[in-house]
Amino acid sequence: MYICICKAVTDGQIRSAVQEGVTSLSGLRQSLGCTGQCGKCGKHVKQIRDQVLQDLGTAAGDSTMSASALA
Ligand code: FES
Repeated sequence: MYICICKAVTDGQIRSAVQEGVTSLSGLRQSLGCTGQCGKCGKHVKQIRDQVLQDLGTAAGDSTMSASALA
């Protein structure tokens, strides 16, 4: 499902990026382009990011996941 209409970014792309370690909103903006235009997708991008982090069993933060958090 498209989450960011402006940049045609799907929830699957966001989930994959977070699982690969891109856990900050700014990092997701840089890597996928989401939230960078109108910004209306920001709330949903954050919700997906937080859900993936919760599923991974890590604390939801606005920073890049450290190597120790992945160990
Ligand atoms: S919907 Fe994502 S920047 Fe506009």
